[in-house]
Amino acid sequence: MDPVRNPYAPGAGQRPPELAGRGRELEVFDVVLERVARSRPERSLVLTGLRGVGKTVLLNTLRSQAIGRLWGTGKIEARPDQSLRRPVAAALHMAIRELAPHHRAPDRIDEFLGVLKAFALRATPPAGGRSRAPRLRDRWQPGFDVPAATGRADSGDIEIDLVELFTDAASVATDVGTGVALFIDEMQDLGAADVSALCAACHELSQLGAPLIVVGAGLPHLPAVLSAAKSYSERLFRYQRIDRLDRIAADRALCAPAEREDVAYEPKALDLLYEKSGGYPYFVQAYGKATWDHAPRSPITAADVRVAAPEAEAELAVGFFGSRFERATPAERDYMRAMAALARVEDAQSDDLDAAVPTADVARSLGRKPASLSPARDALIKKGLIYSGERGTVAFTVPHFGRYLRTQPG
Ligand SMILES: Nc1ncnc2c1ncn2[C@@H]1O[C@H](COP(=O)(O)OP(=O)(O)OP(=O)(O)O)[C@@H](O)[C@H]1O
Ligand SMILES: [Mg+2]
Repeated sequence: MDPVRNPYAPGAGQRPPELAGRGRELEVFDVVLERVARSRPERSLVLTGLRGVGKTVLLNTLRSQAIGRLWGTGKIEARPDQSLRRPVAAALHMAIRELAPHHRAPDRIDEFLGVLKAFALRATPPAGGRSRAPRLRDRWQPGFDVPAATGRADSGDIEIDLVELFTDAASVATDVGTGVALFIDEMQDLGAADVSALCAACHELSQLGAPLIVVGAGLPHLPAVLSAAKSYSERLFRYQRIDRLDRIAADRALCAPAEREDVAYEPKALDLLYEKSGGYPYFVQAYGKATWDHAPRSPITAADVRVAAPEAEAELAVGFFGSRFERATPAERDYMRAMAALARVEDAQSDDLDAAVPTADVARSLGRKPASLSPARDALIKKGLIYSGERGTVAFTVPHFGRYLRTQPG
């Protein structure tokens, strides 16, 4: 069928033509926004899930929801080895720009911008105490010329400074009767000091009843990262596991956009598409897209899906699996291949393609001592390819990654 009218959108952060199966998350967030704006006690939200389940897309949708309620919003994507300071400053600048038109006192906005500038310009001393020359991308061009304030959010201690900055941002939002929401994607990549400071700031703000919330998204081990930083983080955040779509939602993700183009699916086609995608949103979009392009006419049949599947798989092999596999060193690849081989053994019993495997078994199958494999394991965790949900086990962050590796020549 006409590829120009193909509605499906496989791709990182690509807005899907139909956001299926996330009704509950959207409802919960609506209540959170309403409660926070009324100074009711409420926890910040953290979305966790595997690669490609739709965390970024959901985060963006929640952000639109907050903007719809006239909240000030900003978003950052955490990166390993990058300090939180500049990205947070830029995000809160954005949030205040959204609030400013509803605010009656421009000098209150300028006052906040002065604090924001002081916060941004104050470098956090590096953990090792060694300072380095500022790199080009570290230079801050705020795009407003308010003089930096002194004595607020500029101590150099990120924990103190975040609390002060958040408190002031929340106070501007209080003036207009809404709140501020800071969205943090790939949150597991924040540095330990920044995670700790962020938890402390959220803790403080919620005690004050100040209308600012953090909404984070990250890989399944994010709760462990947060509780390693602050033991009270379990009570601080409301964790929502973002999972693959159930059958009804996956069908809706395919059928609703097709209907808008007067295209239908035969039930057997939907059976096969679900079998192939396992309900993982990225795969739903990828198989949907290839099937549409190959199907000669509506209704789309199971035979059309069968013809199109190899193309979808080839594209996933390059764009979804391969691009990630290439980030690993040869030693790390061996580690993952060993994991994949073990996961197959587990499959037989559990029917779970993405089962966790004990690290001791990985070592045994490679004929190595567990300790000698720690660097490879830690590097893979840092690269976001695997995670350790339960002590002593590892699992792939990428759904169906084990199966993909087993089809690759070693
Ligand atoms: N609820 C949904 N219904 C249908 N398609 C969806 C849904 N959520 C996400 N998708 C699709 O899934 C794909 C992956 O989404 P997204 O990039 O948000 O995942 P992610 O969890 O952020 O992945 P990663 O961990 O790799 O960053 C996109 O193509 C998107 O259009
Ligand atoms: Mg994402």
